[in-house]
Amino acid sequence: MSELAILGGPKLRTTPYPAWPVWDQRDVDAVSAVVKSGRWGGYPYPGPKTAELARKFADLQGGGYAVPMANGTVTMEVALRAADVGWGDEVIVPAYTFQATASAPMAAGAIPVIVDIDRQSYCMDVAAAARAVTPKTRAIIPVHLGAGMCDMDAIMALAAKYHLIVIEDCAHAHGAKWNGAGAGTIGHFGSFSLQSSKTLTAGEGGILLCQTPELAAKAAAIIDCGRPHALGGGAEDYSREFQVGGNFRLSELAAALALVGLERFPAQAQQREEMAAYMDESLSEIKGVRLLKRDPRHTTRSFYRYIFAVDPEKFGLEHDLLCGALQAEGVDCWVGYEAMNNYSLFQPQKSKLAVPSAFPQYFDFTNMVLPEAEHACEHAAVWLDEAIFRSGQSGVDDAAAAIKKIQQHAAELNAAGEILRDRHGA
Ligand SMILES: Cc1ncc(COP(=O)(O)O)c(C=O)c1O
Repeated sequence: MSELAILGGPKLRTTPYPAWPVWDQRDVDAVSAVVKSGRWGGYPYPGPKTAELARKFADLQGGGYAVPMANGTVTMEVALRAADVGWGDEVIVPAYTFQATASAPMAAGAIPVIVDIDRQSYCMDVAAAARAVTPKTRAIIPVHLGAGMCDMDAIMALAAKYHLIVIEDCAHAHGAKWNGAGAGTIGHFGSFSLQSSKTLTAGEGGILLCQTPELAAKAAAIIDCGRPHALGGGAEDYSREFQVGGNFRLSELAAALALVGLERFPAQAQQREEMAAYMDESLSEIKGVRLLKRDPRHTTRSFYRYIFAVDPEKFGLEHDLLCGALQAEGVDCWVGYEAMNNYSLFQPQKSKLAVPSAFPQYFDFTNMVLPEAEHACEHAAVWLDEAIFRSGQSGVDDAAAAIKKIQQHAAELNAAGEILRDRHGA
């Protein structure tokens, strides 16, 4: 019988990794108190829990005016609209991210211009972004991916040169710091998601950090059906102007959950970071495994997923076979996103749901060549689940041991590869 769990052998890790989200009686009590208060949401916005969340989240990141809202997609759309970026404008986004980073500009009427990533960090290649600037470019959305951060010094220098609005997509970077400054406080805006899988969650939700009180007031009005808000985005202020808005408010129930999550967040982040450093040591011993580069200016790493790369030639396996086999060994992982240019959203010939027909007139997504993102997505990237990093050294040891075990049986796995790919969609 094979030694590999995916081929019928014994599983290396038999104890499940800890569940996410974490909850206890405090969450139940917090939601229950909101239910009993009768103030579940609505307006005047923000309600007391949402206002408290705004204050405490800005404190966690160390700056900015926080405007809580419905999710981490509308945060980016609202940021663009608050900065008057819209019809016909171009917004630079990286090729390796969740599609919200590109669909948010489209929702605001702008055209996402997709640029390649840096092989060492898997974050936006700032030189590629510089080459993509045209007279229509108005904004740039660097994504702090997985456990990484973009080179924010280079991004801000590029933005200053071309007068671009910077929206940091921090859906993976709650608590992270660059040169001591919180993710999301360096650009004009920082966009955070509180969706279920994120490291600070309310089930659904988002927070937009704004650099100025004026931008925050405008963002708060846009998400509150256009009602005018005071500078800083706090209470309604009818002495100020109405905006064209929608309803993207966060409910008080969600805010209450996020507030309890905030109490747990520092200890969880520290635990993940300590175990990530331990994982770095374990993985660096494995032939064909490459750790993503951590810039020394990325002073606090606080992550969503631990991403590493395999060199298929040296490691002996493509990333999809490794991930399928790891999953079978009881180690939660994923091959990660598709390269953005391959999303059916940008390939009208692949999908009926493709981009509105107006977009290809302005920008031809079909001919994009983004070799670094394609290499990461098709061959190299492995995303380890954050729960592994909340399971102590033995959990990390198991994950590293599973990777080594699979590598030792690479020949057998490659031989079974085609069948497995069909069966597991690995
Ligand atoms: C990089 C990135 N940006 C944006 C989002 C969108 O956040 P939400 O799901 O809260 O809309 C997500 C995740 O969901 C994400 O991973």
